[in-house]
Amino acid sequence: MRINTLTFGWFILVSIFSLLLSGAGMAGTPAALGPLPPVPVPEDNPLTPEKVELGKLLFFDPRLSGDGSTSCATCHLPSQGWTTNTPQSPAYPTVMERRNSPTLINVAYNKALIWDGRAPSLEKQALGPIRNPIHMNQNPDYLVEELKAIPGYVKRFQQVYGTTVTIEGLRKAIAAFERTIVTRNAPFDRYMTGDKQALSAAALRGLELFQGKARCILCHNGPNFTDSQFHNLGVPKPPFLNHPLVQATIRFDAKRMKVKNYDQVSEDLGRYLVTKEDKDRGAFKTPTLRNVTQTAPYMHNGVFQTLAEVIDFYDRGGGAVPNKSPLMQPLGLTAQEKSDLLAFLEALTGELPVVETPELP
Ligand code: HEC
Ligand code: HEC
Repeated sequence: MRINTLTFGWFILVSIFSLLLSGAGMAGTPAALGPLPPVPVPEDNPLTPEKVELGKLLFFDPRLSGDGSTSCATCHLPSQGWTTNTPQSPAYPTVMERRNSPTLINVAYNKALIWDGRAPSLEKQALGPIRNPIHMNQNPDYLVEELKAIPGYVKRFQQVYGTTVTIEGLRKAIAAFERTIVTRNAPFDRYMTGDKQALSAAALRGLELFQGKARCILCHNGPNFTDSQFHNLGVPKPPFLNHPLVQATIRFDAKRMKVKNYDQVSEDLGRYLVTKEDKDRGAFKTPTLRNVTQTAPYMHNGVFQTLAEVIDFYDRGGGAVPNKSPLMQPLGLTAQEKSDLLAFLEALTGELPVVETPELP
């Protein structure tokens, strides 16, 4: 009995201690940086060349949208780092987005999708933009019937799944295609696998800063440079925030996410939309930094045009907001250190598969 109480006491103490530590975000050491493991593929959606090809056609096909104007590639362009180089994502005609379109590079490795993490998997997410009135504004049941009118699709669904066109097959094919958008063989990877010449002296100093004085590793860790967590950095509000159509999208989305008093919401609540916890207000997902040179502008709302601006922002300790992450601290970087850090970020740019706009069936 006594021993049990003692053991229990220790258990409580240790739990409190680790809670305190994780509260400060220091629980354990951050996952090590390094080359990416093979792409994770769910058992019920194996990658086959035919399926990937079908997914690619669907990805580029504007007929997936309500008015035939917008494809996935409209907002995730291979030639613009699988995002667009505008701060505000494009949107369905007549409406406006409130966020920057995230890159799809290495999206297969993301544990949570969307800037606020509301989508759990690529298969589940694929229908989101199709249905979303801000993105493609299409009724999925109608879309299936529409695609059945295109013999090229009927034939391909038959080949891949042995069925006619289905939502399930469409989701899986798009997800399979997305899993092929992977960057490999960046100078950083070559360095980590033994080519000690692959990083310049500046990039090497940058790597050390990244893991030390500049504190980036606290959130950008593991092979894909993300902890898959959500943090409020105090990113400044974007100039487009007060546009009436952006405000309409913000209220619509808050209503869809079941926020009480959604019609009073006038800014992007970030992770709060999913959890409804005050600590998550203004928190967004840590994005990958791989190929980050190709995905400007930066942050969930595209407020920073260059990586130098991003580094200056971190150097200041982020923005001035009430519930900023305690991990954000002023860094006191010298001009030399800032340029070293930039050289390291540049060394994360690897090779992407070449994807041309396909001829549609
Ligand atoms: C009109 C622009 C637009 C279109 C069309 C569009 N997207 Fe997106 N996509 C976005 C924006 C903006 C986000 C971020 C949304 C958010 O955070 O609320 C996003 C997020 C995503 C994400 C999450 C990425 C991550 O790492 O969090 C995936 C995956 C994705 N889109 C795939 C697709 C697919 C597949 C299609 C076509 C079926 C598509 N998108 C069509 C703009 C678009
Ligand atoms: C407290 C966690 C945290 C730390 C520390 C941190 N980041 Fe970030 N980083 C994030 C989050 C979260 C975002 C997205 C924020 C948003 O959009 O509101 C982000 C975004 C970025 C982006 C923009 C990427 C894109 O695709 O838009 C870059 C570049 C970046 N960070 C680099 C760095 C560098 C360099 C450091 C170190 C000086 C660093 N980060 C430190 C969490 C962090």
